[in-house]
Amino acid sequence: MPASVEALLARGISVLAPSSDSPRADAMLLLARALDCEREWIVAHGEARAASAPARRFETLCNLRASGMPMAYVLGFAGFYGREFLVDERVLVPRPETEHLIDEALTFLKARRSAGMPAGTNVLDVGTGSGAIACTVAAENGDAFVHATDVSARALEVARINAGRLNVAERCRFHCGRFAGPVAGRRFDLVLANLPYVPTPDIPPRPNPIAFEPREALDGGPDGLDAYREFVPEVPGLLEPDGAAVFEAGPALMPELVALVERTFRARPVEVGYDYAGHARFVMVATASR
Ligand SMILES: C[S@@+](CC[C@H](N)C(=O)[O-])C[C@H]1O[C@@H](n2cnc3c(N)ncnc32)[C@H](O)[C@@H]1O
Repeated sequence: MPASVEALLARGISVLAPSSDSPRADAMLLLARALDCEREWIVAHGEARAASAPARRFETLCNLRASGMPMAYVLGFAGFYGREFLVDERVLVPRPETEHLIDEALTFLKARRSAGMPAGTNVLDVGTGSGAIACTVAAENGDAFVHATDVSARALEVARINAGRLNVAERCRFHCGRFAGPVAGRRFDLVLANLPYVPTPDIPPRPNPIAFEPREALDGGPDGLDAYREFVPEVPGLLEPDGAAVFEAGPALMPELVALVERTFRARPVEVGYDYAGHARFVMVATASR
């Protein structure tokens, strides 16, 4: 006899319990995916019988999650700034803290408009991964044209799909290469970067979900700052005279990243931004005081 929805859910919770902090919530999401229904339907129809194909699909999803794979990869998408992004093992799962970088970017773009700057803003997103930053800035600001780079051609496949799904492909160009190499010679009003910043010794092994993410999206070298040490000195040459830049990194790296940005931009005031948890997470610099 086919298993009931309630029995499948209970089985899923027990499979996930050893590896997940939220086994019930995860099992609900995976069961909703396997049954192609809303979670509310599961709560209301515990006694319903599931057909064998979705029951098998659910078992496969639970086993993937139990192996440590991030929920976002198992489901195939991640929420970011109110939108759904396709994600898989080709890209980093966009993090909630990066939503603050978007807030900073949008604040800058709004201030430009209020100051009567000409329409049309050129933005550069370096290390775009899933395209979370590039596509969100383009979607939130119809005035922005975003160039985005990544060393990973596989990540860019995902970014292009996301730009298409979010209807911003017309205003996003994706380029494969290191840092701003592929857009050499261009100038931007706003440069955004969330480059790899996990110190190599801090990258956990599997089954930690982080270990499923691409190494080139995580590994910031011995102290986490290798990528920024190489990229930040390029940034003044990329910015328009009234441009700005925002960099994301781990809280422990902030003092050194701030010092690097201050050395690079000399007289320009450098600001620190904070994430949801109140941790220092962003460094912002504007080339003109506003
Ligand atoms: C921390 S992930 C950020 C992904 C995405 N921007 C986000 O915020 O979710 C860093 C990204 O930078 C890319 N990357 C690493 N080194 C790079 C380099 N030298 N130049 C350009 N991209 C690089 C990685 O492939 C990865 O996609």
